[in-house]
Amino acid sequence: MTKALEGVKILDFTHVQSGPTCTQLLAWFGADVIKVERPGVGDITRGQLQDIPKVDSLYFTMLNHNKRSITLDTKNPKGKEVLERLIKECDVLVENFGPGVLDRMGFPWERIKTLNPRMIVASIKGFGPGPYEDCKVYENVAQCTGGAASTTGFRDGLPLVTGAQIGDSGTGLHLALGIVTALYQRTVTGEGQRVTCAMQDGVLNLCRVKLRDQQRLQHGPLKEYSQFGEGVPFGDSVPRAGNDSGGGQPGRIVKCKGWETDPNAYLYFITQAPVWEAICDIIGEPDWKTNPDYATPPVRLPRLNEIFGRIEQWTMTKTKFEAMQILNERDIPCGPILSMKEIAEDESLKATGTLVEVDHPTRGKYLSVGNPIKLSASPTVVERSPLLGEHTQEILSSVLKYSESELSEIAASGAIGAPRMAAAE
Ligand code: COA
Repeated sequence: MTKALEGVKILDFTHVQSGPTCTQLLAWFGADVIKVERPGVGDITRGQLQDIPKVDSLYFTMLNHNKRSITLDTKNPKGKEVLERLIKECDVLVENFGPGVLDRMGFPWERIKTLNPRMIVASIKGFGPGPYEDCKVYENVAQCTGGAASTTGFRDGLPLVTGAQIGDSGTGLHLALGIVTALYQRTVTGEGQRVTCAMQDGVLNLCRVKLRDQQRLQHGPLKEYSQFGEGVPFGDSVPRAGNDSGGGQPGRIVKCKGWETDPNAYLYFITQAPVWEAICDIIGEPDWKTNPDYATPPVRLPRLNEIFGRIEQWTMTKTKFEAMQILNERDIPCGPILSMKEIAEDESLKATGTLVEVDHPTRGKYLSVGNPIKLSASPTVVERSPLLGEHTQEILSSVLKYSESELSEIAASGAIGAPRMAAAE
């Protein structure tokens, strides 16, 4: 069976998390992803947060599956020649260098376009054009500047960043969609184009509902926020909403049996309007079905603290899994707070390939997140990440078709360094 992106060659200049997330997805869909790394150093994450000395970190291995690695010093004149050849050979160049790096390397968009008019050049930067365009950016900077931090956390606490890597992995996802869209357009126009995605923009896109609330605020209080029921006035910007539901169906995190000792014995409970009667039956408040103070969604809004307090009295008598079972039998949406340990042990996630065990020559077996996007005609087989420079010779000879004498010349120039079998120390 062929893969969806079979035949597409990606020149992967990405590093750290945002860009690698994108190229890993493309590799999972069947593209040939050629990761270019600096000789002797490689992607900085190979050596970051190492759990085993001199072994590529999980940070690196979990973001670089199914890729090939070539080491190339792009500041070396011979290295620049090889890069030129790679640009002519590949369909897409993906990079998330700091602002201006590609230009300083001698490969601005105009030059790449001349070398290969069909090439799609895809970039992630922290910010789009404007006052901050020259700034380097990491995950939490994007979360803070994209509206996530100011709206996450509790009203009386600090702004919070979230564990979901919406700045890095989120923007990588956005970029991947931009790339396949540009590839599709190329089938009609025959031409490449630039695809750019700023991390601030990617986060803001994921915080769309908060910009919705910012505008609703001009027309009155946000009644589904806890502070409305508590009588706390709203200011001029969207407040932090704690665990209040971001949608039209009020929800909260409630305690379950064992919460006193288990930090994850909690459940997200949604009081979806169509199942209100079932909720009343389960929590032992059948009168609330018809009582005019509780019977309809608008009258419940000022009473959410009381209602969720009553729901919690019931959930505290059940474990989160028991509660989930009982509630789902009546179609009441809810979600147990799963710890990473519980997720890592989840057999159903392993059965679908969302969790995969991967074998690595220097690390041994480890658990990774597989492809969350399932294509029925292009299934993903997760392969281990490459060692630094593992495919340098193979790419130079079989992709770029260098002759033996040219290969010796490249090696003598120092442009490719020596292949290493371990991570940067
Ligand atoms: N050969 C030779 N030099 C290389 C090379 C190679 N194969 N690959 C990279 N380099 C050089 C670059 O040319 C650059 O040199 P220059 O500054 O002299 O022009 C240098 O490495 C540093 O690149 P840079 O991307 O700025 O790395 P950094 O470690 O200083 O910054 C980031 C890291 C992530 C902050 C920055 O890349 C960035 O802001 N990226 C965009 C936003 C982003 O994706 N952030 C999230 C990352 S998860």
